[in-house]
Amino acid sequence: MMGSRFLWLLWAYTCCWSAGFCGKVVVWPTDASHWINVKVLLEELVLRGHEVTVLVPSSNLLIDYRDTSSPFTFEVLQVPFTQESLDAIMEDFLNFWMNEISNLTPWEIMWRMKKDLEVFTNMSKQTCDTLVTKPQLIAKLRQAKFDILIADPLCVGGELIAEILAIPFVYSFRFSDGNVVERLCGGLLSPPSYVPASTMRLTDQMSFVERLKNFLFYFYMDLFFLKFWQNEWDGYYSNVLGRPTTLCETMGKAEIWLIRTYWDFEFPRPFLPNFEFVGGLHCQPAKPLPKEMEEFVQSSGEHGIVVFSLGSMVYNLSYEKSNVIARALSQIPQKVLWRYKGKKPETLGSNTRIYDWIPQNDLLGHPLTKAFITHGGTNGIYEAIYHGIPMIGIPMFADQHDNIAHMRAKGAATELDFSTLETQDLVDALNTVINNSTYKENVLRLSRIHHDQPVKPLDRAVFWIEFVMRHKGAKHLRPAAHHLTWTVPFPLSVPLPRPASPTADNCLCAAKKVVYSHVIVVLC
Ligand SMILES: *[C@@H]1O[C@H](CO)[C@@H](O)[C@H](O)[C@H]1NC(C)=O
Ligand SMILES: *[C@@H]1O[C@H](CO)[C@@H](O)[C@H](O)[C@H]1NC(C)=O
Ligand SMILES: *[C@@H]1O[C@H](CO)[C@@H](O)[C@H](O)[C@H]1NC(C)=O
Ligand SMILES: *[C@@H]1O[C@H](CO)[C@@H](O)[C@H](O)[C@H]1NC(C)=O
Repeated sequence: MMGSRFLWLLWAYTCCWSAGFCGKVVVWPTDASHWINVKVLLEELVLRGHEVTVLVPSSNLLIDYRDTSSPFTFEVLQVPFTQESLDAIMEDFLNFWMNEISNLTPWEIMWRMKKDLEVFTNMSKQTCDTLVTKPQLIAKLRQAKFDILIADPLCVGGELIAEILAIPFVYSFRFSDGNVVERLCGGLLSPPSYVPASTMRLTDQMSFVERLKNFLFYFYMDLFFLKFWQNEWDGYYSNVLGRPTTLCETMGKAEIWLIRTYWDFEFPRPFLPNFEFVGGLHCQPAKPLPKEMEEFVQSSGEHGIVVFSLGSMVYNLSYEKSNVIARALSQIPQKVLWRYKGKKPETLGSNTRIYDWIPQNDLLGHPLTKAFITHGGTNGIYEAIYHGIPMIGIPMFADQHDNIAHMRAKGAATELDFSTLETQDLVDALNTVINNSTYKENVLRLSRIHHDQPVKPLDRAVFWIEFVMRHKGAKHLRPAAHHLTWTVPFPLSVPLPRPASPTADNCLCAAKKVVYSHVIVVLC
């Protein structure tokens, strides 16, 4: 036991000696699927001899800090909200997106989204408080002399901790609503004429009306978030740092932005040198399946199998919905492996097996796999691209509709509406995707693009993190746009006078800035 651990450590240190640098990494993680993804990156950093410390809230969904076999050190932040209240919030959230939403008007949905954002912000703030109000903890973290902080802008706070510790930070994430964080704070150019805003379900081929909608959505999101952040965060950040600042300005200090997509998935668009597209960094060749599962898969013969999962958060459906789905699955000649935890549907066919958990990547990489029924999370889509499996998307929330819109535009998926889903819809979709070879050909083309890269996404992500540690930043990649007070999503930035104190800045001023900059661009 001791011996193997010693050898392992020796190997790890040899690795990082040969690379010339052993660093100390501190992480401000985002929960759920974000954690699943960033964990792969952190494990790779540990393998290369770096030390990784994760700042984890005592109540969370998927970050198991009690796991003694974890390669990371955990610094547990004692948050005031309980595990039960967090689980209840999550259940309520899923129930809303899966069941309630179909009967609501767009205004009611928007109101609800704003409320959810407030609840989430409240929890983020409480998590930040556990750190910024504890001078001993800050002193301890300072003493640890970390070289870099890895954060995710969706979980506000990481950039603040990096500022307090005076260390550079790197972001790893998929998107922000309407791309506000990347565009406004990161300076990423996003012409609304061909760069669709996240969550709009648009592609790069837009009609005039769609371009207008896209433009207005960017505009609306800019106003909404500037006002929201101003109310919720700008004062908080200014107080903690003891100088007038804003959340957006602090986020803009990220040295490198690791975006979890790549050109197999993304539409071509302008980007900055400090943006790296590392989609699929978690993907791996398939490993052998457990024996019982392999036997079931082999029993499918020439028809092959269908893999079905709605992701790490959704594992339960209403009994009615599960029967609609099970009936459809029973009508295809393939065998089906379905990740599902709810009550067993009575219409379940003999060709379908239900599992609490499935080795999704290994199944998608199995030579007999014909199709993947997915909720459309980025992690699952990338595994399907990696292994070249066509998809049937049943998106529900967050970036899922967008992801499936991308895959549809590239001819690798069909889409179903969860709220109106009938048995025949799913049967038709399965027949189309499995029997019409265009879907397979298209996803194989994406897969070839994915595999034919000079450096693998995981290695590129690690390279930039190590680069930032070695050079204490990546300032040579930082565009001068950050020196202008206002950056707009167009190839034109408008310098405006900086307010004396952002905390005193009011909504009207934020609105004026946005209107002003957009109007100037339109006039030009
Ligand atoms: C934020 O959390 C605190 C403590 O749990 C609670 O008292 C407060 O009402 C919450 N505010 C919102 C807007 O949810
Ligand atoms: C699944 O959801 C149903 C209602 O939607 C609920 O009654 C049941 O307890 C849930 N089961 C699990 C395992 O969460
Ligand atoms: C595809 O075509 C075959 C042969 O025409 C048919 O038996 C099968 O039901 C179709 N659907 C699927 C999902 O394979
Ligand atoms: C297969 O799907 C493609 C794309 O949806 C469609 O254009 C084509 O007509 C389909 N082929 C058959 C034989 O149905």
